[in-house]
Amino acid sequence: MEPRAPHYQDLNEEFNYDKLAIHGNLPSWLEGTLVRNGPAKFTVGERALSHWFDGLAMLHAFSFHGGEVSYCNRYLRSAAYKRVFEKGRLDYEMFAADPCGTRFSRFMTALVRPFSSEKGSIPNANVNVAKIAGEYVALTDLPLPVRFDLSTLGTLGLLEFDDPLRKNRAAGSAHPHYDAKEQATIGYLVEFGRKCRYQFYQIKEGAKLERRVFAQMEVSEPSYMHSFSLTESYAILIEQPLVVNPRKLLLSTRPFIRNFEWRPERGTHFHLFHRQTGKFVGSWVAEPFFFFHTVNAFEEEGVVHVDLFTYKDATAIDAIADFAFADRYPSDAGASKLMRYSLALDGTSITSSTLLPLNVELPRINPAYDARNYTYLYATDLDSPLEQGRGRSLVKIDTKAHTVIPWSQSGCCPGEPLFIAAPGATREDEGVVLAVVLDASGSHTFLLVLDATTFKEVARAEVPLAIPVGLHGEFFERAF
Ligand SMILES: [Fe+2]
Repeated sequence: MEPRAPHYQDLNEEFNYDKLAIHGNLPSWLEGTLVRNGPAKFTVGERALSHWFDGLAMLHAFSFHGGEVSYCNRYLRSAAYKRVFEKGRLDYEMFAADPCGTRFSRFMTALVRPFSSEKGSIPNANVNVAKIAGEYVALTDLPLPVRFDLSTLGTLGLLEFDDPLRKNRAAGSAHPHYDAKEQATIGYLVEFGRKCRYQFYQIKEGAKLERRVFAQMEVSEPSYMHSFSLTESYAILIEQPLVVNPRKLLLSTRPFIRNFEWRPERGTHFHLFHRQTGKFVGSWVAEPFFFFHTVNAFEEEGVVHVDLFTYKDATAIDAIADFAFADRYPSDAGASKLMRYSLALDGTSITSSTLLPLNVELPRINPAYDARNYTYLYATDLDSPLEQGRGRSLVKIDTKAHTVIPWSQSGCCPGEPLFIAAPGATREDEGVVLAVVLDASGSHTFLLVLDATTFKEVARAEVPLAIPVGLHGEFFERAF
């Protein structure tokens, strides 16, 4: 079997470490639990998955309390987990893995229909985590959040909504927004059927776990979207030209994303809805591009600015997986760029500018600046091979000055950087940035703590395990 790239390492066992070795000085105010999610198993025997995004979901918790850090990890007990660990099979419902694909050896997955899961079965929610109406949940691009226990990471079951909205034959976003003023989680659904709809909803914290739809539009061929944007007044869907015929999708036996077609002639549509009234404001059409992650959006003098990382087309879906595997980014896939699209509210004019032509991904900002004019974002390098003497970087980007501060260490591969504000912070970048960093020699991992202002290391906590580089995470204020 070939050696494993940092994103494709299996972590088969579950561990609890009460006290990690710490170097440096942890800020005394840093109390709470960082939970990270990501694929952590790709093989059964000699058989291996062909796509990074299809690995089995594993949760990792780093808990900060009294100047110490603990760590534990647990697989999500999904239907896919049972197929792998109880039956020794890699034939669960896939997002992208090519059924005929080979990575390490020849194998074929069973053909599994999208949305065919049995009622109540737990999806392989390996993308993100969130706190929704008091419940801690693991998320993927389906409207089926999976509850977990924050102290043990044990899987508790599906989050059951008390509303008539779709749970099956629908897609959702693994990147909900949280409006602290409204105390509400905001997300969207894409309903597939004879009629298809995009629906924005919000979930208020309260007695009833209800997704209340506040805006919607019908669509004949829905787009694949992974994230969306908010401003203080508007909710924005970015409909990229990767679209699906819904009838074909519902009858398909191909992995979910393989049913979507790249149709560049459609361009990319920015659909704006008023958050208070639900009124459709309009659509602005830009050139075709592909994206996974929005960064932020805000209003300024009659213009809505939307910042996101774009790729030239949907080949990025496989390019990222190939990069993660092969440690090189295919040149024909192009690289990501940090773009700003500016939508004039008094018409349909749209302009774009490249904020930085930097091939990075997994952007995060200070959450208090979500939907507001902001300056800083933090992201992970996708460009550097892990050649001798080099490491991949974390970057702090100043969107106004167009400058970058990198952090890297030889041979090391960091995951998504997460910003945590210091108590009573008055500056946007006053706090720390946390990132899980894998030493590419494969022997250990460390949790890196950077001063968010200087982007210099203040501390690290060592984990004597190779934790595969994952996707997204969140910091919760409870510690264990
Ligand atoms: Fe994502």
